[in-house]
Amino acid sequence: MRAYQIETMGDVSGLKQVELPKPTAGPGEVVVQVRACSLNYRDLMIIRGHYNPKMEVPRIPLSDCSGEIVEVGPGVTNLEPGTRVTGCFMPGWQAGGCDITAQQTALGCEAEGVLADYITLPATGVVKIPDHLSFGEAATLPCAAVTAWHAILSGKPVLPGHTVLLLGTGGVSIFALQFAKLAGAKVAITSSSDDKLNFAQKLGADFTVNYRNDPDWDKTVLQWSGGAGVDHVVEVGGAGTLPQSIRAVRMSGHIALIGVLSGVGDFNPISILMKSINVRGIYVGSRDMFQSMNKAISAHQLRPVIDRTFGFDEVPQAYEHLASQTHLGKIVIEL
Ligand SMILES: NC(=O)c1ccc[n+]([C@@H]2O[C@H](COP(=O)([O-])OP(=O)(O)OC[C@H]3O[C@@H](n4cnc5c(N)ncnc54)[C@H](OP(=O)(O)O)[C@@H]3O)[C@@H](O)[C@H]2O)c1
Repeated sequence: MRAYQIETMGDVSGLKQVELPKPTAGPGEVVVQVRACSLNYRDLMIIRGHYNPKMEVPRIPLSDCSGEIVEVGPGVTNLEPGTRVTGCFMPGWQAGGCDITAQQTALGCEAEGVLADYITLPATGVVKIPDHLSFGEAATLPCAAVTAWHAILSGKPVLPGHTVLLLGTGGVSIFALQFAKLAGAKVAITSSSDDKLNFAQKLGADFTVNYRNDPDWDKTVLQWSGGAGVDHVVEVGGAGTLPQSIRAVRMSGHIALIGVLSGVGDFNPISILMKSINVRGIYVGSRDMFQSMNKAISAHQLRPVIDRTFGFDEVPQAYEHLASQTHLGKIVIEL
């Protein structure tokens, strides 16, 4: 079967197309014929060696895929060949809080990834695809969508009438926009591009700010919120945006700490205490959250936003498109 492997970390040139033996299903496992994958910022960090420089190579990359079950192993009774499924980001995290054992099952780094014609997964590590979604659409869900769902609707959920601030128009933020609108919230979103902000408005964004033209975007959002600050921030920027996110959130508001798009660095926590902010670290989500999210996606016939789809031979170009940050929403690879 065809697959890609990361042979060396540094840049996309370390990614090689290879032939590997087709896997078979052991007890409790299923073999999935992969039909589509999607890329996340994490995949760029991994290939650059910034995510886990000690990752074992060669390693099959990517965490997100969808496909069709072609074989079930002994003991699997609830799935059958032909079922359309999406793999979970951490197949070992079923429900409740995450732990170290579940974390070690994260695909595409700690465990082998999914960019191959066939993969094996535990039967408990897949979820059925909502009927209205294509394989490409379903492949966008495991990391970005589940993370956004976790931030917006798990724990301290966003409620109707709440105000939410989203940063940039990447995969996580666009799903967060869709889920926050489902929840009945008012949403402000930032971007480096007016064209992307226009698109975000079409998806329901109530307020938009170009953070390139308006470096004081936190003050602009504060004003929009009526001066008190927003109820929730979905923080994907990291060290470069966190101080401004903290200024834009209300006292006793919520910040879901998710990403490091602007890097990591020194940070003074004093304003978190003074404003009594609830900061919640989020690492994707459980299979239970994935299933709840899929119910909502089905009920509202929600469709993921796909920026561009690449073929299997165009994987390096897909990574480069992600790195260019010209995309909005998700980038898909079809097999
Ligand atoms: N903790 C978790 O479980 C988890 C899960 C998923 C992702 N993440 C993290 O969350 C972040 C987003 O991931 P993703 O896959 O959604 O990324 P992505 O699709 O690659 O998002 C890229 C977009 O982010 C925006 N951006 C970049 N720098 C920014 C800045 N300084 N301020 C505001 N927006 C900025 C840009 O949007 P514009 O072009 O509109 O400006 C850019 O196009 C990453 O750091 C990723 O590692 C974490």
